[in-house]
Amino acid sequence: MNELYKSPLPIIAPSILAADFRHLEQDIRQAVDGGAPWIHCDIMDGHFVPNISFGPAMVETVRSITDVFLDVHLMISDPDRYIADFARAGANLITVHIETCDHIHRTLQQIREHGCLTGVAVNPGTALSSLRAVLHEVDMVLLMTVNPGFGGQTFIEYSYERLRALRMVREEIQSSFYIQVDGGISRSNARNIADAGADVLVAGSSVFKSSNIPAEVKALRNDAASGYRSMYV
Ligand code: DX5
Ligand code: ZN
Repeated sequence: MNELYKSPLPIIAPSILAADFRHLEQDIRQAVDGGAPWIHCDIMDGHFVPNISFGPAMVETVRSITDVFLDVHLMISDPDRYIADFARAGANLITVHIETCDHIHRTLQQIREHGCLTGVAVNPGTALSSLRAVLHEVDMVLLMTVNPGFGGQTFIEYSYERLRALRMVREEIQSSFYIQVDGGISRSNARNIADAGADVLVAGSSVFKSSNIPAEVKALRNDAASGYRSMYV
């Protein structure tokens, strides 16, 4: 399953947080039909972030609907307690927030031991230097481009600078982690975001609030691809 990680970049990862749960299956199928190789699941605990979303049972449901790559974003305090549950539910990649981990090295190790790829996320107000020690061992860095907790927020403009800075660090240390961006991504900015260095673009509202989900995924992918300069090709 983890070879799907190798889908051609840039990747559009629709976030089901913005889907209509009355017809979640249909929404997911449409996103996948539009070419989304990943589905992004936002887990919120009402503690680390103000909102509560859903837990492992929902990830298991999504897994029963599709076999695409499941990208699970944990916006929860003390993520170590739940890694096994999300891995069992079908996650392929688990991302934890650096702000929630006292022992990030151990947490990443635990994710790997459960057979998943690793991601580390940073909030817009957290210095990128806080990630430095683990950049050599993560598969992905998630740069939050809104404050986590809600879908439908506005992309924070200074994220471009952070994206470029992170891409430069990656070059300097000759690492190959993916750079993912999450929050406020739409057709108005996908091209510039990919140009600044994003490999994986999470899109919630722009995909699932659209009247034509497959067309929106395709258009976002084309926009992102037109700005993307891959380090991998
Ligand atoms: C924010 C979540 C995002 C969110 C993105 O806390 O991590 O994944 O669902 O939603 P949009 O694309 O609507 O900003
Ligand atoms: Zn997310």
